[in-house]
Amino acid sequence: MTARKAGLVADLLPRLRPDLSRPAPDDLRTLFACPLQEVWLEIGFGGGEHLLWQRARTPKSALIGCEPFLNGVASLLGGIDDHGIETIRIHDGDARDLIAWLPAGSIARVFILFPDPWPKKRQAKRRLITPQLVRSLMRVLRSGGELRFASDDMDYAREALRVIGNDAAFAWTANRADDWRRRPADWPETRYERKALSEGRKPAYLCFRRL
Ligand SMILES: C[S@@+](CC[C@H](N)C(=O)[O-])C[C@H]1O[C@@H](n2cnc3c(N)ncnc32)[C@H](O)[C@@H]1O
Repeated sequence: MTARKAGLVADLLPRLRPDLSRPAPDDLRTLFACPLQEVWLEIGFGGGEHLLWQRARTPKSALIGCEPFLNGVASLLGGIDDHGIETIRIHDGDARDLIAWLPAGSIARVFILFPDPWPKKRQAKRRLITPQLVRSLMRVLRSGGELRFASDDMDYAREALRVIGNDAAFAWTANRADDWRRRPADWPETRYERKALSEGRKPAYLCFRRL
């Protein structure tokens, strides 16, 4: 890590980290100094490229990113500092702790893009998507909110479709048979996705509506 990034981890990160030791505010938007329409959540943002892209296009939405990998957090901090961004908060730990802290119905969109695939059968229980996680997302997503999931591991994508699609609180929004093969226009390519494509793996893109 460069000295600049280490400095941002020491000085900027503590100012952007939600304090989970206190109750969350009833209106999550009050975490931010400027007026905002809604708050979005990204789980496992890697280096934060998708999060910064969404922020640049939707300045009226705030974003909370979760990522335990410190070098990734430091990369996002670099982007936040470069552009003087005030509408991003970072939980540098397990997303499940943050989700448990969030008020019901406080989030308008959730992004889970290329979560670690854990492709071996004996590793599958380490996967992030479980019925418990989906239930906790159901609680924090507002009605009409969106959940986006992508994976280059077809077994994981099928499992996510089954677990999320079987939850009565979510509806898969696909209109055409091959929708899952197409990344929507307001969804940029991520770093992990680029790697998967360069290695010949075609991702699945799944969008769900919170009913
Ligand atoms: C395969 S990478 C994908 C990163 C990024 N979304 C992309 O598409 O380039 C998965 C990321 O999820 C993060 N991750 C794993 N478990 C997590 C958890 N429980 N909460 C939040 N992030 C997690 C990992 O640290 C890793 O950076």
